[in-house]
Amino acid sequence: ELPVPTTDKIVILDFGSQTVQLIARRIREIGLYSEILPYHTSAATLASDPSIKGIILSGGPDSVLTDDRLDMDELILDLGIPICGICYGMQLIHQKMGGTIARAVHSEYGKTECTIHTASKITANIPSSHTVWMSHGDQVITPAPGFQVLGVTPEAIALSGHLEKNIYTMQFHPEVTQTEFGFTYLSNFVLNICHAVPSWNLDFILEEAIEKIRRTVKTEKVMLALSGGVDSSVLAMLLHRAIGNQLRCFYVNTGLMRKKETESIMATYLKHYHMDIRYIDAEDRFLLALKGLKDPEAKRKAIGSEFIRVFEEMTTTFSDCRFLAQGTIYPDVIESQSLNGPGKTIKSHHNVGGLPQDLKFTLIEPLRQLFKDEVRALGIKLGVPESIVKRHPFPGPGLAIRVIGEVTKERLDTLREADDIFISLLRDANLYDQVAQAFVCLLPVKTVGVMGDERTYQEVIAIRSVDTVDFMSATFSKLPWSFVEKVACQIVNQVRGVNRVVYDVTSKPPGTIEWE
Ligand code: XMP
Repeated sequence: ELPVPTTDKIVILDFGSQTVQLIARRIREIGLYSEILPYHTSAATLASDPSIKGIILSGGPDSVLTDDRLDMDELILDLGIPICGICYGMQLIHQKMGGTIARAVHSEYGKTECTIHTASKITANIPSSHTVWMSHGDQVITPAPGFQVLGVTPEAIALSGHLEKNIYTMQFHPEVTQTEFGFTYLSNFVLNICHAVPSWNLDFILEEAIEKIRRTVKTEKVMLALSGGVDSSVLAMLLHRAIGNQLRCFYVNTGLMRKKETESIMATYLKHYHMDIRYIDAEDRFLLALKGLKDPEAKRKAIGSEFIRVFEEMTTTFSDCRFLAQGTIYPDVIESQSLNGPGKTIKSHHNVGGLPQDLKFTLIEPLRQLFKDEVRALGIKLGVPESIVKRHPFPGPGLAIRVIGEVTKERLDTLREADDIFISLLRDANLYDQVAQAFVCLLPVKTVGVMGDERTYQEVIAIRSVDTVDFMSATFSKLPWSFVEKVACQIVNQVRGVNRVVYDVTSKPPGTIEWE
């Protein structure tokens, strides 16, 4: 067996902060592997993993002054592993160790000035005065014994440290870009205080992933449903690199894909990379399953069930495969683990119907540890075309949830034409990479228009484009009006059956990104 690469890691205990993933991302940018664990993780669990070099307690929406606050195992404070408490994490540490906390008289929200009056390892390369970003209702009034106040804002103790125990606490958020030197604070903690050795970089990620796949799969075969999205595409290339033609892919043409999408995927993977990929034409089946359905949930369910049926048939074809690969990525893992953790907003999980319960395959998820941008970077390194790596997300149920109301082949074709015009123009104007997701919907509404001297009575296309990082909230893109005008003209002129275009100016919330 090949040796397993090992790596130092930093653990983040999640107290429900919106920025917990951001903390984890920053740590990885410093070059350390980071893992987010529920706030109630025990000291024993952490002590059993010698690769943990530091622990960060995140912020959170709770108040440490309430009885039902999210609590930690206080034995963690005695493990001898360096700790950094952020916001709620700071208050919890001081409360546990004998300090006093109170509701802030003037709670700070947003940018404020921080003054450092005592230099220490945590403030290396940080000037004595800089901007920090605060968001707190409670604050530490008297630090716990052993702690030194290192920095203050006009209203609060901003930074303190127990230098012997290597425990540092910050009232501000170092993970957000609004905090000047936030990255330096985190680097100081990880590198100067935890003495963690950076090894988390693309070469390492790639080498480790390949080695692990080979070690798990040995000479067996792996089956993968390729969708053409970023995750499954990168996964396919990774597996192909690791095990060559032990990888067997299939691609289901549901008939609900964008214009020329299917052709382009088959061309890329089959012709260009010579992957073993089977094409399944299921367009008629999906259209039949959708016939007569108007309700969004009913449509989603029908597609989900049909997909499971196709998948089950494929398992017979691929019965020589022992493993099934899935493109699960780290945010999916965190989302499902936080179900038992703090009550934060959880995106309803809406992957197509899920998979049958009684799988005879062993699941492998080689991207499970990676954030989306790491998956993208890995993809580029593996040679996945940039057009795929930078692609906007596309929903599992495909265009069926963008043809509002009943789905027919004809209406799908109309939508595909309009969508292709919008996306091509976005690309031409170099706007595609600037927005997070863009598409069009076809509405089940007819309106009156005039073309030439003729009265028309035709359908409406809605253009949707949103800006977002996490897709849990989003604002509509402020595309230049001249651009919107151009899109509208081209759609009305070129797409048969459409005589009106509207632009969706709804944010999420209250709207969702997709219309159904
Ligand atoms: P909403 O419409 O909920 O969408 O604001 C948030 C993000 O999720 C995508 N989406 C889906 N992705 N299967 C998926 O894999 C689905 O059923 C699904 N529904 C929505 C949506 O495109 C957006 O990026």
